[in-house]
Amino acid sequence: IVAAAALMSGIAFAKEVKVGVVLPLTGPIAAFGQTSKAGLDIAYNQNHKLKNGDNVKLIVLDDRGDKVEAATAVKRLIDKNGVTVILGEVASGNSMAMAPVAEKAKTPMITHASTNPRVTKGKKYVTRACFIDPFQGAVMAKYALDNGMKNAVVVTDAKQDYSVGLSKAFKKAFTAGGGKILKTVLINSGDKDFNAQVSTIKSMHPDIIAFTGYYPEAALMVKQARDMGVKTPFIGADGVGFPELVKIGGKAAEGFMYTDHFNEAAASSPEAKAYVEAFHKKYHKAADSMGALAADAYGMILNAMNQCIDEGKQPTDKECVNEHLRHTKGYKGITGVINIDKNGNAVKSAVINEVQNGKFVYKTTVNP
Ligand code: PHE
Repeated sequence: IVAAAALMSGIAFAKEVKVGVVLPLTGPIAAFGQTSKAGLDIAYNQNHKLKNGDNVKLIVLDDRGDKVEAATAVKRLIDKNGVTVILGEVASGNSMAMAPVAEKAKTPMITHASTNPRVTKGKKYVTRACFIDPFQGAVMAKYALDNGMKNAVVVTDAKQDYSVGLSKAFKKAFTAGGGKILKTVLINSGDKDFNAQVSTIKSMHPDIIAFTGYYPEAALMVKQARDMGVKTPFIGADGVGFPELVKIGGKAAEGFMYTDHFNEAAASSPEAKAYVEAFHKKYHKAADSMGALAADAYGMILNAMNQCIDEGKQPTDKECVNEHLRHTKGYKGITGVINIDKNGNAVKSAVINEVQNGKFVYKTTVNP
């Protein structure tokens, strides 16, 4: 009788639906993974039950920021853990290592933060919750040009697909807008000494330094540049706006401008406000863009699974979940309304922030 009652109320059918998560929780870019996880935790705690009563379970693996480990994690989550969908990674190079594995296993993957176009290119099972770098690079370029900066030196991290692609996008938009690229200076993630590059930049007298890498190198480079008397402003992108920039860069980081996905100061939708409130309550600090993106990617997964349930399908139906992820339209996210285009990319606005008094201050919003 108990079983029959449970059956009738649907309880007997309540299953566990597994979502695999791959993040750099340790290693050189651990801030990417930790901030993603913090946002994901909020979204998960708010909702992890599907329409049919099934429970969502997260299986989180740390890839230590390594490409090979990221790809291995995807394989393990699919083969051993039997996940329906994968959320991650942050760094484009790592997502590019994961995407072919997910694609081959016909398992949907959604990256919340990887912006290089090649992550989704030619893929049927890969979606992203963020904009792509041709847009981000154009926003950087326009902001620099609008502020009267005509001559740029570009700093490219040769080890990061993200940086290589973003540099290309910046240069294209900057020159198209009438600016001039004086030089491209190369660095490698993990470098600690940028004296040679800074000397080169100093001798070129640019109006702007377009830095397309990640926060660990940004922090050290801006500090060394200021120590060497270089006063040229820096503009970066989503990879730099982390507390480490200010912690390590100190006063040298003042005035660092960068493009990003979200700033709570500009958040006006009910979804964003609710998230920001929950974030403050739990972490007692400003809500960052990375956590908001992770929460949005998770929300898109739940949304897709619930749509499958509406159609009388299972939330574990990978084909169905993928179809709905790839055709997400008008999803009211924390970082904005998310529409996925035919290539699996989100079309969304960007914000521009600037470091002022050690804080990431919102400047403006740029629409696609
Ligand atoms: N866009 C970066 C990349 O593709 C990752 C990133 C996103 C880093 C958002 C910080 C904030 O590699």
